[in-house]
Amino acid sequence: MDEIKHQDYWNKSAVIYDDIIQEELHSFKKEAWQSLLKEHLADDRRSLQILDVGTGPGFFSIILSQMGHQVTGIDFSKEMIETAKKNSALAHVQPQFIHVTGDSSFNPVNTFDIILSRNVTWTLHRPEKVYSDWHKWLKKDGKLIIFDANWNLPIANEQYGEMYQKDVQEAIKHGFPQYKEEELFKEGDEISTYLPMTYAMRPEWDRAILFQLGFRHIKIRQDFDKRVYTEAEQIAYKSIPSFSITGIK
Ligand SMILES: C[S@@+](CC[C@H](N)C(=O)[O-])C[C@H]1O[C@@H](n2cnc3c(N)ncnc32)[C@H](O)[C@@H]1O
Repeated sequence: MDEIKHQDYWNKSAVIYDDIIQEELHSFKKEAWQSLLKEHLADDRRSLQILDVGTGPGFFSIILSQMGHQVTGIDFSKEMIETAKKNSALAHVQPQFIHVTGDSSFNPVNTFDIILSRNVTWTLHRPEKVYSDWHKWLKKDGKLIIFDANWNLPIANEQYGEMYQKDVQEAIKHGFPQYKEEELFKEGDEISTYLPMTYAMRPEWDRAILFQLGFRHIKIRQDFDKRVYTEAEQIAYKSIPSFSITGIK
């Protein structure tokens, strides 16, 4: 499985992913994430230099720009970058968006106060290399903030698979959306079987790698699903709760 095929998958997912982000930008979730991000930034400076990795349709880049920060959003899907540009124009903010590829020259050493990503690290083909790059790209005392979940646990572990299917059926009764893009989801599941994070015990795996790379003050939180999920999402995802892991360079 190569990264190019994976980029193609994310290009095809841009439209459906944008629907999800539109809902987030126009619901309680926007303020919920802004308040959670504020806690994670834990820095009173007005305008931090922030890199949003795997920005997708630009949700974090937009809401952090609205909070007054200088944000750069990068993504290896061209379609996602185009969608992020469209969404930020509609939101009247101007983060910088850059389309990056594996062999691109993007290497901003010692540049950012904050590097963050949401729901991206589970998709990485070479997570250690990427975490090492992020360490290089942070300024001294800069902070890494990863938000993610063990999204593929239901694929890797049969018991979790059954639990998750049951939870989703229950969640549907509470309004959890039923997506029609079955072919695309099948392709996503197929790709996931090749991804290393599918089989990692997270966030413990991340903690060990970040420590090896020299990150300090590593902290994990798993207490915020109630704030950022609808009731239906809380039911659907209760066996795969979100986590954040932060570390200082
Ligand atoms: C599940 S989406 C998350 C989007 C966004 N962070 C959010 O939470 O709304 C994952 C995104 O990460 C991007 N991505 C995955 N691996 C990447 C990499 N190595 N470099 C840049 N972008 C990547 C994909 O193209 C996709 O847009």
